[in-house]
Amino acid sequence: MSFRVLTIFLIVVSTASAANPAALFDAHGCRACHKIGERGGNSGPDLTMVGHRRPRAWIDDWLASPRAFKHDTQMPEQGLSAADRAALAGFLSEQKGQAWGTARPWRTAGDGCVIYVRAGCVACHGPAGQGGHPNPGGRGGMIPRLGPLLATYKKDELISKLKRGAVADAEDGQTAAVDMPAWDSVLSDAELDALADYLLTLAQRDPKDDF
Ligand code: HEC
Ligand code: HEC
Repeated sequence: MSFRVLTIFLIVVSTASAANPAALFDAHGCRACHKIGERGGNSGPDLTMVGHRRPRAWIDDWLASPRAFKHDTQMPEQGLSAADRAALAGFLSEQKGQAWGTARPWRTAGDGCVIYVRAGCVACHGPAGQGGHPNPGGRGGMIPRLGPLLATYKKDELISKLKRGAVADAEDGQTAAVDMPAWDSVLSDAELDALADYLLTLAQRDPKDDF
């Protein structure tokens, strides 16, 4: 390779890494609140599996204005350029757990509560299933709160619901509603079993304890 060709090659590589969306995630301070893999803060949801639960277009909308989507959200407005937003939405929609490698943060087997938080159930159903997340176009305009509903399930029904996921009923014929993802591709039977045990403890809580 001549010097000239090598120089051009190096320029192309360095330009590509300047547009590296993983670097944008750090440069915009996202990691102060969010984890991808084991590194990052925890005042926002863990994003290691965000691509399993959120489509790219949803992430792009969310980044445009978290507050427009959820008026009481703790996530600050980011003021991203359209290009950075698109790059981040693409990068995040590809995060399906690979940043953990073969390890899982809940390897201390059977900890359904940790799975609930780190796999991101919490990002849609809220802490301890308390709800509060808008779902424009979905049933009642909200992602369901879990506690009281779960009392109607037997454990095996609950596990098969988690495995299959659910397409949210589109109340007004819009397509924007968020669906409940199917979890059989990312959680093992043992993990689903631990998760169901945790969910059933939520069903037994007196709803008054949540407030
Ligand atoms: C000050 C903390 C903070 C910063 C900084 C922050 N976020 Fe957030 N983020 C949050 C919180 C809190 C939520 C949960 C919102 C809610 O449910 O109200 C959230 C939610 C999200 C979600 C939705 C997650 C899901 O699964 O539903 C995405 C995607 C996201 N943030 C990406 C980003 C990106 C990208 C950046 C950087 C450009 C960023 N965040 C910066 C706190 C933060
Ligand atoms: C991207 C958002 C999202 C995520 C993440 C998510 N869910 Fe859901 N979930 C939904 C929606 C929306 C529904 C309602 C679907 C419908 O209308 O039938 C739902 C329904 C449910 C139900 C059934 C409630 C009922 O109506 O009977 C259970 C149980 C449940 N989710 C548990 C979980 C668990 C456990 C996780 C994590 C492994 C999880 N969900 C992750 C959005 C989500």
